[in-house]
Amino acid sequence: MRLIEGAEVSKLMVKSSHARQIMERCHALGEVSDESDCLTRTFASPAMRRTNRMVASWMDSSGLQVRQDAAFNLIGRIQSSNPRAKCLVIGSHLDTVRNAGKFDGPLGVLIGLAVAQEMKGKKMPFHLEVVGFSDEEGVRYQTTYLGSRAMLGRLTKRDLSLIEEKGIEKAKRPQREFLAYLEAHIEQGPVLESQNIPLGVVTGIHGQTRISVTFRGQAGHAGTTPMNLRHDALCGAAEVILEAENSGMTATVGQCEVVRSSSNVIPGQVLFTLDVRDSSDTRRRAACAALREKALAVAQRRGLKLQSWKIVQETSAIAMDNKVSRILQQSAGAGVPMMPSGAGHDAAVMARACPSAMLFIRCRKGVSHHPSESVKPSDVASAVAAMARTVLELARAYE
Ligand code: GLV
Ligand code: MN
Ligand code: MN
Repeated sequence: MRLIEGAEVSKLMVKSSHARQIMERCHALGEVSDESDCLTRTFASPAMRRTNRMVASWMDSSGLQVRQDAAFNLIGRIQSSNPRAKCLVIGSHLDTVRNAGKFDGPLGVLIGLAVAQEMKGKKMPFHLEVVGFSDEEGVRYQTTYLGSRAMLGRLTKRDLSLIEEKGIEKAKRPQREFLAYLEAHIEQGPVLESQNIPLGVVTGIHGQTRISVTFRGQAGHAGTTPMNLRHDALCGAAEVILEAENSGMTATVGQCEVVRSSSNVIPGQVLFTLDVRDSSDTRRRAACAALREKALAVAQRRGLKLQSWKIVQETSAIAMDNKVSRILQQSAGAGVPMMPSGAGHDAAVMARACPSAMLFIRCRKGVSHHPSESVKPSDVASAVAAMARTVLELARAYE
């Protein structure tokens, strides 16, 4: 029996009504925040719980079976008539960074829901799930991908000891359940816009290391302590931060705090974060080791103590699946480029369990992790069509 007719694939129309609804919903979710003056939604927070309830109601009204798992992942499912079928997952995340834009994450979840709406009533050789993962950004615990890692049973003991919400490991599902994973996401960079192309397909996701650093020096009076007798923790940190900038890596210090600071006190203790990324794990690890050596040398020369240098999170670089990516590229249309992702995505975790592919959507000026994040509804419509065509092609391939 043919489950999906060939003509159906080519005739699938770009429905602008989907895009309009997705944009309205992204704006509605953009109001659901843990902070009153900006958009911030972290793992299992009140705003995330409210968001899950809102998206659950949209999934429910589209006829999906909805549940929230033990790791706060929201799952909407269309069951195949074959109960032993595997599951095709379309997902992204519903958490955000602090002072976030409205599209990083939720857009991919809502595109998944629009695709599921397109598939309703069609006979599928797989179950189709739309998943809103609970923690891609890692803002609350500095441990990214808690939701997708919990789903695949990849949480560490350290994760579990850090996390207040107990029992998230119960979200674990057998890897063999998953047929493939698709994720649509804003590009978060300027490449597509600079080439005047709405969509791109991801080749692979760069690896990343997040490190938390503490320098301890000697606090003292800003007016009376001679410059050559100081042990200024912030000046030591500054040397390491500039070294990271010149390390050849994509390196960022996004948080830096002088502990118990005053404008007239020499900084006695400084905490900062280091986020280091590269397409090569070997290069990234070597660069992190070299930065640690630099920090030790700076500490010794300045009479400081490198009180801690803790790797709080590390994810290896990973390639997307060739076959599924090619289907996605063909579905997205002629001239759609293949490009790497410097940003982390739940696809980096899911790709360890099943063939995974990602679609990038052009965003205005390449800006992301900021309230001015913006996408064009017409690009969203193209993304829905590309993802839906991919699902139909996969259905034909697996029937
Ligand atoms: C998530 O957006 C990340 O790449 O840090
Ligand atoms: Mn992000
Ligand atoms: Mn994201």
